[in-house]
Amino acid sequence: MASSLKFGIDIRPMRDEDLARVSAIDQISFSQPWPDDAYRYELHNNPKSRSFVAEIRKTNKGLEVVGVIVVWLILDEAHIATLAVDPGYRGKGIGRKLVAEAMKEAVRQGANVATLEVRASNDAARSLYQDFGFKVVGRRLRYYLDNGEDAILMTVDGLGEMYLDQFVHQQS
Ligand SMILES: CC(C)(COP(=O)(O)OP(=O)(O)OC[C@H]1O[C@@H](n2cnc3c(N)ncnc32)[C@H](O)[C@@H]1OP(=O)(O)O)[C@@H](O)C(=O)NCCC(=O)NCCS
Repeated sequence: MASSLKFGIDIRPMRDEDLARVSAIDQISFSQPWPDDAYRYELHNNPKSRSFVAEIRKTNKGLEVVGVIVVWLILDEAHIATLAVDPGYRGKGIGRKLVAEAMKEAVRQGANVATLEVRASNDAARSLYQDFGFKVVGRRLRYYLDNGEDAILMTVDGLGEMYLDQFVHQQS
């Protein structure tokens, strides 16, 4: 169970001023991080991409971006391209809020199905996605080049208002 938040949090679309912070979170979160300019590309050059950040409000300390999610919307399919939360803020329900926003955006844009790949050993992410109805549908052998780990393919279909009621609204 996530520990309770001691700060306010907003999930909002990513903006230019977030790019350096988002890249830093990506770098610290992944053994194969995205290239430096990848998030700028998502923001400005990929019309199929929607990116959201989690921003916390600390008393007297202003705002800080602590998480990011990118979802690609291609025809009726949403693909969660990346998700990361600053290690100092994990286990507080922020990843859950980011996935909830991505799934709401997928439904708003007319997606019927969502897909993603996740490292086989990534129990935290797999468990989070399962909470949103994702099921394992396949495995890509030795997909990750750094350690030869398999990727697990997960999907959820039947997206729409009933899906949001069942899996998203009570979590966001
Ligand atoms: C995966 C990740 C985004 C989760 O973010 P988070 O903010 O810590 O997640 P939340 O606090 O919202 O937790 C939501 C659920 O995820 C699962 N979860 C989160 N951390 C977990 C852990 N350490 N072990 C097992 N399950 C975990 C649980 O099901 C949890 O629900 P619960 O709190 O009711 O038990 C975060 O761990 C991360 O950034 N990891 C590195 C990058 C990564 O692996 N991204 C996913 C790529 S597919």
